[in-house]
Amino acid sequence: MNLAELRINPERLLGRLEALAEIGDTGDGGCCRLALTDEDREGRDLVVGWMRDLGLEVVVDVVGNVVATYPGQTGETPVMFGSHIDTVRTGGRYDGNLGVLAGLEVIETLSAAAGVALHRPVAVAFFTDEEGSRFPPDMLGSLVYVGGMTAEEAHDVRDSDGIRLGDDLARIGYLGPAPCPGPAPCPGPAPFAFVELHIEQGPVLEHEGVRIGAVTGVQGISWTEVRIAGQSNHAGTTPMGHRRDAGYAAASVSMRVREIAGEIGGTQVATVGEMDLHPDLVNVVAGSARLVVDMRNTLEGDLQRAERLLNEHLGQISASEGVEVETRPLARFEPVYFDERVIELVQSTAQRLGHSVKRLASGAGHDAQMLARVCPTGMIFVPSVNGLSHNPGEFTEPPDLVAGADVLLQVVVDLAQRKAW
Ligand code: GLV
Ligand code: MN
Ligand code: MN
Repeated sequence: MNLAELRINPERLLGRLEALAEIGDTGDGGCCRLALTDEDREGRDLVVGWMRDLGLEVVVDVVGNVVATYPGQTGETPVMFGSHIDTVRTGGRYDGNLGVLAGLEVIETLSAAAGVALHRPVAVAFFTDEEGSRFPPDMLGSLVYVGGMTAEEAHDVRDSDGIRLGDDLARIGYLGPAPCPGPAPCPGPAPFAFVELHIEQGPVLEHEGVRIGAVTGVQGISWTEVRIAGQSNHAGTTPMGHRRDAGYAAASVSMRVREIAGEIGGTQVATVGEMDLHPDLVNVVAGSARLVVDMRNTLEGDLQRAERLLNEHLGQISASEGVEVETRPLARFEPVYFDERVIELVQSTAQRLGHSVKRLASGAGHDAQMLARVCPTGMIFVPSVNGLSHNPGEFTEPPDLVAGADVLLQVVVDLAQRKAW
């Protein structure tokens, strides 16, 4: 068997993507499987069932990350790949799911090819709560996996209804026994390499007519929760000069965040996608507000400048409107640069398979950025139609999904045959 000619089975991959998308189907093409909900449990059970059908050794760890391993000729450290199967509330069918199901497909292809035995084991993983929109921060499971947060800290994270992550993890049956293999005090070696296939979630590949992205890294992420306390009062009787309007202050933060992105320029993006006013009534000045600011940049220095400008604005609006402002960091990760050897391998493999390829940085956060702390890591992107993601309209053309999975397969075969870096 010539390993270089091995290809995945497109129908099987597309069929599994369809089957998983039925769980939490929102009826508009999208999916809602928020982390550790019943839908997440059902999705997990389906994927774990497929892993067991393949005879893989399935390990569930203390934060519910699932790793399924296919043996190699040796017991050396595995080549790992995967992603996540949780979604945002308005999620699509491909974000995360593609990387996990393509990973499963890679293993099924290897196990179905007679006489194939790679030097290293290979392992497909899905990590808990990548989205972080229910339990911040994002990439929580992979962060714990690499030792960046303790399992106890993770278990104590609460969602906006006050539910503890650890309690819901146990409730859905995924509070596993295995320790995470990150740095001390967690035992166990890091993988030999980690590779994540993912949809781009942005417009660049489609716009440039390129099929494969060789991802160079992930931009830094800063999430800040802002709570504003003012005075609720009658909207008709309170003269403008007498207001302490939390709604006005919150809106000014949203406006300022957009200006900051413009002032910093370059790759800076900044968003207020979550905002609540209380009591949220037409004829009442808002007494309190809560919003979350999401800012990202590929340059750490610029991201810090954006954070300073945000804080300056919060001080100014607090003074001028007479409101109290409190902030709490929900997520903060510096930009990550992937391993040049893995980036180069993704690029050359895509070219060998006859695909156009472009190097680009990721705008979204990914589990791969956490694994990059412990082993050589890279990512493969495929185009997103209209650049849409975190949206039911998220779509990637089937030939692009298949091309990405074949690049993943060939990258994995190359890495798993290596005796050393
Ligand atoms: C997580 O996936 C994010 O980029 O928000
Ligand atoms: Mn994702
Ligand atoms: Mn996502």
